[in-house]
Amino acid sequence: MNYKRLSANFISLSSVDSTNNYAANLVKETNVVNGTTILTKRQYSGKGQRGNSWLSEDEKNLIFSVVLFPSITFERVFYLNIMASLAIAKTLKDLGLAVKVKWPNDILIGDKKVAGILIENQLQGQLIKHSIVGIGLNVNQKEFPKEIKATSLFLEMGVEQELEIVFNQFFKYLDFYYDLLEQGNYKVLLSRYYESLYRYQQWSRYSTNETEFFGKIKGIDETGLLIVQTENTVKKFDLKEIAFLR
Ligand code: BTN
Repeated sequence: MNYKRLSANFISLSSVDSTNNYAANLVKETNVVNGTTILTKRQYSGKGQRGNSWLSEDEKNLIFSVVLFPSITFERVFYLNIMASLAIAKTLKDLGLAVKVKWPNDILIGDKKVAGILIENQLQGQLIKHSIVGIGLNVNQKEFPKEIKATSLFLEMGVEQELEIVFNQFFKYLDFYYDLLEQGNYKVLLSRYYESLYRYQQWSRYSTNETEFFGKIKGIDETGLLIVQTENTVKKFDLKEIAFLR
């Protein structure tokens, strides 16, 4: 089998604005091997989804970005989110935690966020030139601002974790799921994603700009849109078009 193992080329920085930015500059300036990972102890301008910032206490959490050169076309770009979400979810499940992936890629324990993923892709025609998979995983942080519904491994387990051990475990699973992606095993990736998908097949409340409604998540389509059954129809939603209500 043509196994495409990720290179364990880890670059550790004591401080950086954003590991995603650092990785983007690195790819621009040098030849980077597939799997090169930038880790930092302190990130002072961390980026979150939708233009938000990502705050993380110094030295407490895992903050890193992995540079990938996946051979998928851009239509399947959402599988990168699936792959990264599954690698985090599996790492945390091994620790005995009940983890869920909230579409598109928030990692939750209960209804609190334990990790976030920011994937930035550089496209070239129909192909992905490179992809930067940025991950913030709350490990040993003990307090979070009240307005953020966040948690950490410490808060869930009551014991501190070695950052390096958690990271190595994550990287092992990333390698595994990346290989499934490269082999075109989309069905397997999708079925694993559904096993961990928050509110999958459950009636819950949602809202759009226009209305609030009850819906049941039926899955996601090939391009990553969320498929939701409502009382009388089935609709697809983009990230900006739907909000999860309590
Ligand atoms: C989210 O909003 O949920 C995504 C958060 C992603 C944060 C990580 S931390 C490492 C990498 N570098 C960044 O600037 N952001 C990502």
